[in-house]
Amino acid sequence: MTVSADKAFYLTTPIYYVNDAPHIGHAYTTVAADFVTRWHRLAQEDVWFLTGTDEHGQKVLRTAQANGVAPQQWADRLVESAWLPVLDVIDVENDDFIRTTQERHIVRVQKFLTQLKDTGHIVEGKYEGPYCVGCEEFKLPADLAENESGEPICPIHSKPVEQVSETNWFFSLSKFTEQLIAHYEANPQAIRPASAYNEVMSFLKSGLQDLSISRSTFDWGIPVPWDTSQVVYVWFDALLNYATAVGLGDEPGTEGAAKFAKTWPADVHLVGKDILRFHAVIWPAMLMAAGLELPKCVYAHGWLLVGGEKMSKSKLTGISPQSIVELIGSDAFRYYFMRAIIFGQDGSFSWEDLVARYTSELANGLGNLASRVQAMVGKYCEGKLPVPGDLTEADNLIKDLLTKTVAKADRDIRDFDFQNGIMAVKEFIDAVNLYVTEQQPWVVAKDESQTERLHTILYVICDSLRAVSTLYASLMPKAMNSLWSDIGAVESGLTQSITTAGNWGQLKPGVVITKSESLFPRIEEPETI
Ligand code: MSP
Repeated sequence: MTVSADKAFYLTTPIYYVNDAPHIGHAYTTVAADFVTRWHRLAQEDVWFLTGTDEHGQKVLRTAQANGVAPQQWADRLVESAWLPVLDVIDVENDDFIRTTQERHIVRVQKFLTQLKDTGHIVEGKYEGPYCVGCEEFKLPADLAENESGEPICPIHSKPVEQVSETNWFFSLSKFTEQLIAHYEANPQAIRPASAYNEVMSFLKSGLQDLSISRSTFDWGIPVPWDTSQVVYVWFDALLNYATAVGLGDEPGTEGAAKFAKTWPADVHLVGKDILRFHAVIWPAMLMAAGLELPKCVYAHGWLLVGGEKMSKSKLTGISPQSIVELIGSDAFRYYFMRAIIFGQDGSFSWEDLVARYTSELANGLGNLASRVQAMVGKYCEGKLPVPGDLTEADNLIKDLLTKTVAKADRDIRDFDFQNGIMAVKEFIDAVNLYVTEQQPWVVAKDESQTERLHTILYVICDSLRAVSTLYASLMPKAMNSLWSDIGAVESGLTQSITTAGNWGQLKPGVVITKSESLFPRIEEPETI
């Protein structure tokens, strides 16, 4: 996905419920978002990356009540102790963090709602039907499963749904059915992957019902401006975060209006597949009603599964990101989830697979390559990058493969095919490792007449690692920043850039090659697991 110069590449994660602390399913979405936005930044693009927390609604209210604290106090506690710290744990560089209890959000939601009411898109009505508090969703009969006693349950939360009967305010969602279908027919890339597109299209074709957008039986939410006996339905409130965070509805000439012009429409809303319909049906209809541009793409990824089911705290299958990062570090955490699971499909997490890939691909593959060449430059060239001679056919193969690798990784990662993008870089590293084995620099070093050849081999390996440290920088920022400097790129006066990463021979001969702290130290599988 490429963006024009005056518009930032604007990508969002869902905003997370603060009823509990994050597990690796939540971290998965945020890491994917961080990976792709760092990639765009490394291509010198203007980027805006938003994440945040969804704090209103019954689910959060009930958790706060169960813990004997006021909902605002509960939300503050969870944000401070869990949701902000996890961004550091998984090494995320977001530009903004929105909380739906912030004034900037509340004011803009109320303004938007008033506009929709004034233009006839919101009317009073009666809602009667099932509701899942876990999903915070009014359910349709077709959405439900049954438990052993024949009760209707939510298939995601495996819990009985509740019956709601309230007089509420309704958004005229059904009016937008045809317009939504037409929009998606004209823009098939607006919902990805294709399976998500097909799901939404068949849902739309079955017809839409108007949506209750307020609740009257509890008060933890944004008051409906013209009827303060009601609070805004949590999803209507939450979806608006993507636009309120960048100045939705602000007067022309204000900072908010300038920000909105620079960022809207969003380029990508990354979401889990469970919340696809909210994003690809309700949200665009809200925007259509307000006469605003629609996001360019909603990308629905799969679930991390445990025992074949969606990992979740409520089912006690949630694994904290900290527990994995403590073992293998944030870089390898990010690498594993982006590398091992096809983005857009479900994937099972296993400690065995994690440790096996860490050991073979990171510690033995990349880490070993770096430490070997650093040791050889130390031993044969007094730690300074030698001057290369003419390139042989084997050297040129590496050089050409690098050009192809950069192009492929760039194409795949922009296209959310993270696994293949990473594989392209991994295959390049494998090729360089094979090159080392075949060229045998330790044998060449024994023959004084071959010094120039030895220098060329070492240069080829170092310059390859210089490129790798850029290509993997958005995936493993900490380790790749240290490799970048250890391999002499900083001393060579270079700037990390995807656009130039494939240009051969950028390292300056004579720069110091430092022996890295082990990039990926060996780990033992924890005994308790
Ligand atoms: N608050 C809503 C989103 C509002 S966006 C306007 C919400 N929050 S959530 O905390 O329940 O989930 C946030 C995201 O985490 C969703 O994209 C969801 O799919 C993702 N995941 C939660 N569990 C997950 C897995 N086990 N695996 C992968 N992603 C998962 O929904």
